[in-house]
Amino acid sequence: MGELLGDLAAAFIGLSGVAVIVGVVLIRRGDRVWHPRVMLVATAFAALFLVFYLLKWGLYGTTRYAGPEEWRTAYYALLISHTVLAALNGPMVLWLLYNAFKRRFAVHRAWARWTVPVWLYVAVTGWVIDIVLKRYGEPAGGIGF
Ligand code: HEM
Repeated sequence: MGELLGDLAAAFIGLSGVAVIVGVVLIRRGDRVWHPRVMLVATAFAALFLVFYLLKWGLYGTTRYAGPEEWRTAYYALLISHTVLAALNGPMVLWLLYNAFKRRFAVHRAWARWTVPVWLYVAVTGWVIDIVLKRYGEPAGGIGF
């Protein structure tokens, strides 16, 4: 069950990244109808990621890195940058949406230039961390029900 929740979380963060790329391509082509729709789908996927991630965390606790020592520093650098940027991404996306719905498109555009790369970094590193922990992870305990 823990594995399934982890796979669902990884699938949804990956899908949200793909949807963001499609949304950017659409607005670059001037499509102001499908751009917002696809970006809202991307946001829904990211929200689903969070639901499954938190469920897994609450039910099964966290996973510790138990791989090769020489990769430990690189792994933790990746994990910390991923976690910090993932936490920042939430408010950035809400601010981006707020300005879009207020039709403040200049502000929306300016923030989008930062939010999109952050979002994609979080999605890609989330996948990398998931793959590393599948191979080298061990349960680190947690709340557990
Ligand atoms: C989290 C969701 C969203 C993201 C990540 C996002 C991202 C972007 C990006 C990357 C651009 C192009 C910036 C550039 O020119 O370099 C853009 C432009 C734009 N977005 Fe969004 N967007 C989102 C949601 C929305 C929504 C919900 C709406 C409409 C209500 C919207 C309307 C627009 C419009 C009209 C532009 C063109 C602005 C202009 O060129 O003046 N976006 N957005």
